[in-house]
Amino acid sequence: MPIFGIISGSGFYDIPGLEITDSVKLSTPYGEPSDVYRIGSLSGKEMAFLPRHGTMHHIQPHKINYRANIWGFRELGVKRIISISASGGINIEMNPGMITVPDQLIDMTEGRQSTFYDEDEVVHIDLTEPFCPDMRSYILKASQKSGVALTGTGVYICTNGPRLETAAEIKAFSMLGADMVGMTAMQEAVLARELEICFAGISVITNYAAGIAGKRLSAAEVVETMQGSSEKVSLLLKDFFALDFPEPACSCWKALKDARI
Ligand code: HPA
Repeated sequence: MPIFGIISGSGFYDIPGLEITDSVKLSTPYGEPSDVYRIGSLSGKEMAFLPRHGTMHHIQPHKINYRANIWGFRELGVKRIISISASGGINIEMNPGMITVPDQLIDMTEGRQSTFYDEDEVVHIDLTEPFCPDMRSYILKASQKSGVALTGTGVYICTNGPRLETAAEIKAFSMLGADMVGMTAMQEAVLARELEICFAGISVITNYAAGIAGKRLSAAEVVETMQGSSEKVSLLLKDFFALDFPEPACSCWKALKDARI
């Protein structure tokens, strides 16, 4: 049973160095995940890998079945998920090509299925720290080991998409304290927490967000920058998974304890 999961997005459709041994098609109580889960090993650790937009990148961010994706990881026995995503830099210090490990989230999505608890049971999960602090500290350790520089904090604002933002929206998000903007991290973080799975993200800044650099944005620059960063992200992942993972020091794995009414 893989303990680790990797979920990745735009421009990052496979994990270099991941030796795939199996693929598993799952169907969950919430519907179909984005793709089959590829089971393999990286740095000696067994893991399950899922591309959130599907292998053909055919699922838009607002149409991803986040519940099925995260539930599928749980069915496979995954206890820790690393998400790889692209984001636009709002903070002027977030330059394209930079690798970040966000520590906070702001939700600007709408109409997405964002909970497993929308029937009989009332559960208010704590999301004070939306990304697992334990996993984040391991990513920072891997950065030191691999020499891959990263920014270890940042506020990720999650928009609904699929359209990009207006310059005025980005200016407003900047005033709200956002450092980067993407379209996927919110639901993954909350759903993982509801299942008591540790979750952290590596987000590559692929472009300056709308209005920051005074030019139009293109999907091509997002994919190109993501692909250009894939070697650094792979090195980071290789050293991350080579670490020893003792019992988690975080509280993600007992998140439901104080959440039920
Ligand atoms: N906005 C929203 N999502 C993104 C961006 C952006 O500028 N870049 C990469 N994902």
